[in-house]
Amino acid sequence: MRIVEHPILDELDTSKKVTIYCDGQPIEALEGEPVASALMNAGIRSFRTTQKRKEKRGIFCAIGRCTDCMMIVDGVPNTRTCVTIVRDGMQVKTQEGLGSFEEKKGEDK
Ligand code: FES
Repeated sequence: MRIVEHPILDELDTSKKVTIYCDGQPIEALEGEPVASALMNAGIRSFRTTQKRKEKRGIFCAIGRCTDCMMIVDGVPNTRTCVTIVRDGMQVKTQEGLGSFEEKKGEDK
């Protein structure tokens, strides 16, 4: 669910769409919106699990302060999805614990 009409922010432009992938699942997103917004709109609430207790975390502060929304975005762990704007074809993965960088094919070690 999205707020498409707001008394202060005005109307949301929903005409330009992109596709991101969350754990391989295609998610329709609006151009210019944060990753967390697109995931919430798709019904995804769990973005990462904690290191020790393996508890699920999702969006909390929504302003880039708490780190609860961290995911692996295009291979980069600990990306705050509430302040990261979507890009067509973006690969987003649920982060387990501290996360780790993913090797990309063809990259030098
Ligand atoms: S929800 Fe707090 S940093 Fe993103």
